[in-house]
Amino acid sequence: MRTRPLKVALLGCGVVGSEVARIMTTHADDLAARIGAPVELAGVAVRRPSKVREGIDPALVTTDATALVKRGDIDVVVEVIGGIEPARSLITTAFEHGASVVSANKALLAQDGAALHAAADDHDADLYYEAAVAGAIPLIRPLRESLAGDKVNRVLGIVNGTTNFILDKMDSTGAGYQEALDEATALGYAEADPTADVEGFDAAAKAAILAGIAFHTRVRLDDVYREGMIEVTSADFASAKAMGCTIKLLAICERAADGGSVTARVHPAMIPLSHPLASVRGAYNAVFVESDAAGQLMFYGPGAGGAPTASAVLGDLVAVCRNKLSGATGPGDSAYTQLPVSPMGEVVTRYHISLDVADKPGVLAQVATVFAEHGVSIDTVRQQGRQDGGGDASLVVVTHRASDASLTGTVEALRNLDTVRGVASIMRVEGE
Ligand code: HSE
Repeated sequence: MRTRPLKVALLGCGVVGSEVARIMTTHADDLAARIGAPVELAGVAVRRPSKVREGIDPALVTTDATALVKRGDIDVVVEVIGGIEPARSLITTAFEHGASVVSANKALLAQDGAALHAAADDHDADLYYEAAVAGAIPLIRPLRESLAGDKVNRVLGIVNGTTNFILDKMDSTGAGYQEALDEATALGYAEADPTADVEGFDAAAKAAILAGIAFHTRVRLDDVYREGMIEVTSADFASAKAMGCTIKLLAICERAADGGSVTARVHPAMIPLSHPLASVRGAYNAVFVESDAAGQLMFYGPGAGGAPTASAVLGDLVAVCRNKLSGATGPGDSAYTQLPVSPMGEVVTRYHISLDVADKPGVLAQVATVFAEHGVSIDTVRQQGRQDGGGDASLVVVTHRASDASLTGTVEALRNLDTVRGVASIMRVEGE
């Protein structure tokens, strides 16, 4: 074994960074044996130097992250500060000064992955980011390496633990969105400002990264259609249950049947209880992958948290250190296919539409005609008279597969019917 250590700079020492430092210390001998050389924590860049960080030599702590990555003796920079800047500049500077990079930064990778990969290539460096998607779950490396000989056609994932916790709570207890969110906040699953999670931004960044790797093409954050889950109601769950389904916030990346384009989207959807993703409870994540040769695969585990995310970071650190020792680099960007990303209007799926309608002769026929005029075929219709004496009824229509554009046109036309009092909810039905 080489005795001269590989030097690691840690950018950020919060929930994840402190776990990375702890595991580097407590597992030092095993890491050295697996890598073939010791790894040394050579510096830790933080914003608040006065904060006590157990197990970290205060002499290693600095507020000057730029000086740390410019030192010249750093072999690997571990970036766990998140956000776009200064992370982007620090990573680029790290490459320029001979370091490889391990990052957990989904927002940055989703927005600037191409430029960062190019910078890594220019400097014969590695850029690894297993922790950026679904925390501890091995996903990036299986897609990049284990499935490199296969053809992935679809990735369907629960990639946000906060929203899965909320939806699971709503499903299992009948709680409304706000009540379930409050509990998620009290238990530390949801942040004080939960927007990134509940509006689907976090999942959209992960979808962009997964789609790019799965389909060997460029998918940017802006290419991902996004709907949050704040409008999901207890009534939606009741409807889902009536269909033998539950509701999940899904990230869905698909290759078109003709192979000529891809789509990436994040939105709440009904999935059958028989689908493996339906049994993903609490704050867990899971990603279901469908490929030509392997068939169906599911990756499951904790998608967030200090130690689980640090596990993924450490796995990357070992891989990057091994590459450094052998003078090689691992698999880099593989966006060679340049497939167009189709707009949401071209996505084809099934829909569950809940309408409030007048309960009088001819209404069902009128509604059915609107669906027919837009080329949307109805699978089932369920009508229930309301008990409020207002002469209205609830009409639930489930369609066969149709394009999102056709469905949007249908709903617009339905809203213009005098007999349709309101469109209570529209939800896609996936995983069948
Ligand atoms: N906030 C994310 C989640 C974890 O709830 O899954 C980090 O991406």
